[in-house]
Amino acid sequence: MKVDGKDYRTIWLSDDGWGVEIIDQTKLPFVFETVRLENVDDVARAIKYMLVRGAPLIGATAAYGMALAMYADASDTHMEAAYQQLYATRPTAVNLRWALDDMTSHLKPLAVTDRPAVAYARAAEICDDDVQTCSSIGDHGFKLIKELYEKRGTDAPVNILTHCNAGWLATVDWGTALAPIYKAHNAGIPVHVWVDETRPRNQGASLTAWELGRHGVPLTVIADNAGGHLMQEGRVDMCITGTDRTTASGDVCNKIGTYLKALAAFDNGVPFYVGLPSPTVDWTLDDGRDIPIEERDGDEVTKIQGKTATGEVVVVEIVPEGAHAGNPAFDVTPSRLVTGLITERGVCDASKAGLAKLFPELA
Ligand code: MRU
Repeated sequence: MKVDGKDYRTIWLSDDGWGVEIIDQTKLPFVFETVRLENVDDVARAIKYMLVRGAPLIGATAAYGMALAMYADASDTHMEAAYQQLYATRPTAVNLRWALDDMTSHLKPLAVTDRPAVAYARAAEICDDDVQTCSSIGDHGFKLIKELYEKRGTDAPVNILTHCNAGWLATVDWGTALAPIYKAHNAGIPVHVWVDETRPRNQGASLTAWELGRHGVPLTVIADNAGGHLMQEGRVDMCITGTDRTTASGDVCNKIGTYLKALAAFDNGVPFYVGLPSPTVDWTLDDGRDIPIEERDGDEVTKIQGKTATGEVVVVEIVPEGAHAGNPAFDVTPSRLVTGLITERGVCDASKAGLAKLFPELA
């Protein structure tokens, strides 16, 4: 996607051919700043403190983390230590484990001297594949939006509600939930996006609103609590969210608050779709209740970042001093509430049979 007329992905190799560049997402929407990562500690910090975030991008960054680890020391011991360090950064997005397993399965059989070059090549491939995969998710989701638009037979925009940020910033490019929206917008179908602010970290208000706005997609940021009301009023045609881990039976784990939107959508007959690449499916789990839910620092709830009238970016307290805060970062939407999964191979039921039909070799 373009930022101020220049093409960007969310992660790329530095000009020197070994450092890795990312966009610091903690600074958006106020400042666009890139950061260079030079070793596995830098990468672990970037994932843990969410300079990069979003399941597919976490996986892609971890892949480059392994490449940087191999650049420093390609021994078995160092590979294992890097794997463990990166794996411990964030527990819920399964793309992290997927990417680390993929990297080590390519590297382990090789001679130590061959590992650095292969690691960089494989990390680049994982990134390129993610772009292609997300573009395909966009194509399949586009058909759903187009169908809905044509069925309604009016020129009014299709109103789509999304939660958190599952756009290009959460992947290498295109996004998952937002890819169909970009494709529809690019094809001239009028779309309007209800953007859940997504407390506590506000990925909707800060990231989704930023990237959709930069691309010219009409949007309205809403408080997290507004979605149900808008659905009751018939002002939401469909919901599309992303996911950090979906079980083999179609239970969808995503940013906290997704479940409540799925309940409201179900109650109001609003289709609720989830965009995901196949590395986000955890084929080892059947029950969403077995997914580890990340518990983050209560500071994310008690404080909020914003820009003052004088242009200063500040963090302020919003609760009484000493108030205790809990911060579960994800929740699970049972498959029965999900209308369909939009994958790179097409749209399927959120069920074991649905996923197995599209991915027989993985199920
Ligand atoms: O905590 P985050 O910002 O990493 O959570 C991101 C989400 O919940 C996204 O919806 C999900 O990763 C899908 S990304 C395409």
